[in-house]
Amino acid sequence: MAIITNAPRGTQDVLPSQSYKWQYIEQMALDIARLHGFREIRFPVFEHTELFNRSVGDTTDVVQKEMYTFEDKGGRSITLRPEGTAGAMRAILQNGLLNDALPLKASYLISCFRYEKPQAGRLREFHQFGVEMAGAGSYAADAQVIALAKAIFDALGIEGLALELNSIGCPTCRAEYHKALREYFAAHKDQLCDTCKGRLEKNPMRILDCKNPACAEIAKGAPVVLDYICDDCRAHFEGLKGNLDAMGIAYTVNPTIVRGLDYYTRTVFEFVTTGIGAQGTVCGGGRYDGLIELLGGQPTPSVGFAMGLERLLLVMEQQGCGFAPEQKCTMYIGSIGDAAQQKAAGLTAALREEGFYVECDAVGRSVKAQMKYADKLGAKFSCILGDNEIEAGKVRIKRMDKGEITEVALDQEALVQYIYHNTIDEIVEYE
Ligand code: HAM
Repeated sequence: MAIITNAPRGTQDVLPSQSYKWQYIEQMALDIARLHGFREIRFPVFEHTELFNRSVGDTTDVVQKEMYTFEDKGGRSITLRPEGTAGAMRAILQNGLLNDALPLKASYLISCFRYEKPQAGRLREFHQFGVEMAGAGSYAADAQVIALAKAIFDALGIEGLALELNSIGCPTCRAEYHKALREYFAAHKDQLCDTCKGRLEKNPMRILDCKNPACAEIAKGAPVVLDYICDDCRAHFEGLKGNLDAMGIAYTVNPTIVRGLDYYTRTVFEFVTTGIGAQGTVCGGGRYDGLIELLGGQPTPSVGFAMGLERLLLVMEQQGCGFAPEQKCTMYIGSIGDAAQQKAAGLTAALREEGFYVECDAVGRSVKAQMKYADKLGAKFSCILGDNEIEAGKVRIKRMDKGEITEVALDQEALVQYIYHNTIDEIVEYE
């Protein structure tokens, strides 16, 4: 039988030696979002396909080319979520959360799935931290959401991400823009890919983010939406810029940003870097005033963003950002013989209950091999129990970095006292 050791293309394992970095980023993002009033929501990895067709849009690359869609055993069409906004909003609506005080502010940490061509920073299974603020139509909400993304980058020590902003207008002004785009692209119709030929009538804006090189080249000369937005949308955009100025958040207006998902209205934004290769968009978001109504709810203007955790990690590693150090083993309790092994097992359990990271032998190794393993774990202290120690009621503890030996009573209380006494400097330093 063939050995199965290859993960599917575009997926990535997070190994035990690296997972502390993920935990650090995830906890920081959740904590900072909490300070800004966002509480975590969790929702399913898969949804009815129709949810994404309707919200992300059936002429987008995501829906037309990238979704993992299958029929379940009950004959339903199911899709692994390609993003979080649609599922979050479905859950918020279904559970009546918009009946409480608005805005409703929710954050999420999720895996997402898109059948894209894998490269650095672009995977088929990837992870997002996102937030959504539902029931807030003012540009002040856009500014607050952007400020939260910035606060998370700052807290993680990431520097130099450029914030790029645009407004893509509302359905009213969009109609004018679509007309201009149709005229422009009609003149280049023969060079467009087949998918984009189909988009020309239905949704010409989607041609702008087609990944086909020929379409991308033609799109460079297309009219830009910012020239077509109505007075209300323009006032909203100016208000947002004013708020960002007041908050001291630098940005540039990039009139070519349209984002690849259909639900956006007015504000769209991205945080980008040139430091991690072609996939430099670390965070993307914007306003989606029509989505909740489209899903069957009351009109509820909303805004949010999502940041890609793989890209965030790449930026942090490239910039040499720190991660909270991984906790090292405090004490290794070695043993020789059955009685000593029983005693070591009891003490290990008791010390773990006290909150210490303690290890003992779980393999039946020789003392020499146990000490080698303790070394590998980076244990701060170690001791070896044998019949003599049990009889004498005493044990010699070795401080591994200095080689210092201290004899203490062989009981839980004495060991706890010893550990406290010998790690107090670090505890104070850490705090
Ligand atoms: P998005 O721009 O499609 O927006 O994705 C957000 C972020 O997810 C991107 O900026 C990128 O960092 C990361 N990302 C996207 N695709 C991949 C991939 N294939 N591999 C690795 N990372 C990826 C959304 O998903 C919207 N739901 C954001 C939003 C929330 N808008 C309003 N609320």
